[in-house]
Amino acid sequence: MVEAAGIERAVKEDLEDALSHGILVSNLAARLARKLGEDEAFCHEMARAGMMHDVGKLRLCEYLYGRSAGTLGIEEMKYMRLHPKLGREILRESGEYSDLVIESVYHHHENYNGSGYPDNLREDKIPYGARILRTCDVFAALVSNRPYRASFDKDTAIKMMIEEVRHFDMKIFLAFLEMAYDEAFAEIEELIQEGNEKRVFADAPIQEEELIKLVQTDASECPV
Ligand SMILES: [Fe+2]
Repeated sequence: MVEAAGIERAVKEDLEDALSHGILVSNLAARLARKLGEDEAFCHEMARAGMMHDVGKLRLCEYLYGRSAGTLGIEEMKYMRLHPKLGREILRESGEYSDLVIESVYHHHENYNGSGYPDNLREDKIPYGARILRTCDVFAALVSNRPYRASFDKDTAIKMMIEEVRHFDMKIFLAFLEMAYDEAFAEIEELIQEGNEKRVFADAPIQEEELIKLVQTDASECPV
């Protein structure tokens, strides 16, 4: 059992991480929507969805930290796959978010080739906003420091995304590439740097490498 102070620290660190990741995805998603020619109202909704996309994880983390000694067992980690559903519930309950935001959050782990979750949706069955979030979320994760690895630079991150390009909507991905090599992207790079200076290689209660492997398995293995 983790000491109460340990749980509190872990939750606080996770909250800080989630905030910094949320801010980055929010900025990326709004800019990408603009690049795709969407109107300001839509871009604003994408900014909100980007900020809130992992909100379900925070509720799960408190539960998970409370019952494991530093690392999570496989069964417990499988619960992490529930975070889009929990996120949808949280946003619905609040009554402050549009269907566009809620659906984008709920489907932000769907892959274009149908290998994602929660519903194994593919191609244009995946809500447009969720396809935008997916692209931004993966990039943001790659360029950020993780407890077990340093961040990748922009070029390496994009190279890695190209290797997994079947996960993304090509039209959105091409717009993302264009945006990433715009001069204006310097502002985003500053944001990335700020986030990475805040937290480097801290001890992590969740082994994210295992988690990533887990989320890439068949959605039918989800225990719920
Ligand atoms: Fe997520």
